[in-house]
Amino acid sequence: MPDKANQQVLYFPKEGIMKSVQQFPTPFFVYEEKKLRENCRNLKKTFEKYFPYFQPLYAVKANNNPTILKIIMEEGFGFDCSSESECRMVKKICEGEMKMSGNVNTMKVVSMYTGNYTPVETLKFAKDCGMILNLDDVSNVAMLKEFCGGGGQSAVGDDKSVVGVPETLSFRVNPGIGKGGMESVVTAGPDAKFGVPFEKAAEAYKLAQEAGVKHFGIHMMTGSNVLDEEYFAKVVEKLLEIVADVKNKTGIKIEFLNIGGGFGVAYRPEEKSLDLDKVARLIKETFDKQCAKFGIKAPRLIAEPGRYITADMGFLVGKVVVIKDGYKKFVGIDAASNDMPRPSIYGAYHYVSVMKKGEFGGRVIMVENKKFVSEKSITGDTLTADRVIASSKTEVVSVVGSICENNDQFAKDRELPVCETGDIIVIHNCGGHAFAMGHHYNGKLLHAEYLLQENGELRMIRRAETFEDLYRTTTDFGRTKK
Ligand SMILES: Cc1ncc(COP(=O)(O)O)c(C=O)c1O
Repeated sequence: MPDKANQQVLYFPKEGIMKSVQQFPTPFFVYEEKKLRENCRNLKKTFEKYFPYFQPLYAVKANNNPTILKIIMEEGFGFDCSSESECRMVKKICEGEMKMSGNVNTMKVVSMYTGNYTPVETLKFAKDCGMILNLDDVSNVAMLKEFCGGGGQSAVGDDKSVVGVPETLSFRVNPGIGKGGMESVVTAGPDAKFGVPFEKAAEAYKLAQEAGVKHFGIHMMTGSNVLDEEYFAKVVEKLLEIVADVKNKTGIKIEFLNIGGGFGVAYRPEEKSLDLDKVARLIKETFDKQCAKFGIKAPRLIAEPGRYITADMGFLVGKVVVIKDGYKKFVGIDAASNDMPRPSIYGAYHYVSVMKKGEFGGRVIMVENKKFVSEKSITGDTLTADRVIASSKTEVVSVVGSICENNDQFAKDRELPVCETGDIIVIHNCGGHAFAMGHHYNGKLLHAEYLLQENGELRMIRRAETFEDLYRTTTDFGRTKK
């Protein structure tokens, strides 16, 4: 256990969250605009240091709130979409700004469509939006000439025209290796359903060339939440080998290389944050080495992070509603795993802070996992009065929601200050892959999202759902006709 806890994990915007609980009914999400912009700028600046023509995209699936997408676009990012609805939202946000042509250097807001097992209608929709198609399989090439309409989940209508052969095309390649923060987020390697197996890459590019494609890219997404700086360069090494192989076998010069997302964030206080500069530097060294070795021109670098941009700008804020002294002590809050399913799906750890009731107008008692709140300071600073109070009155509890599943536990056996009903629980790292993964199990509603703006004001950017919303599509209680 390190002496020092990662301050990025412990951080939350206390003033803003205090204000939010005074103004709005819990539970809700708060997103900090300042942090979001900082994350965008940091990623862009870090990669541009080594790759002046670096093009950042944002993986919409991590947090698809339109206000968040607009801010990310203002920071110079394009988008990576994975469904028709994401394409629709991005198209709306870009309002005609999207220019996706064969020449990547003229694009204003570059966007890609990275699907898997995608119906032909969705491919057509994405192409018609002007997105670069990033195909997941060799068989998708034939789909470009297939007639659309009458199948799939798409709402494109009964248009019977073909997808059409785009001028620019990319393939998601499975380089045969993958890594992730946990097994279920590993998205490459022999067990993964994603990507063209690298042995078939040249065949895929050849087919696309024969179909009439003029410009090519290559893409990978081999896993999420990776905190190992050296890993990304290893995969890039392999990808550049594939780029060279494709050139040798087909004569095709791959013009851009998208390394996907996967940049990890620290969720636990004992975890170190990813050294992004090291990631970018190692990738650059690999580019230099491989391009010289194979005699190829360096493709333009693209990345499409989700978590790295949004995770630590967001907080799920709930109120303690029931405390049960059972076989264990359970602190029940008004948010539940349907709001933020990561712990229930992955057993993921999220850091939790407590704001004591009655303290919202002034002092906040910051609470940390017991391992860090001890006689010594967690940070090495002098203990503050708040921390003394917190550490002198702590107990081991589990923080749970009200879903009828035993995995509805945001924090298990965690040392927290003694909680009372009415206290506020702040769950950290809830800006990415959090609300976006929410669901309605047990007839639960999804809650509001607020933006803590740079001027300190709070703005609602999604209202809480109502019961009418939940039943709107049913025929007996909703507005849908039988
Ligand atoms: C194709 C693709 N790109 C990018 C991402 C973003 O990953 P992360 O949030 O780990 O950066 C994902 C996440 O699942 C993905 O599937």
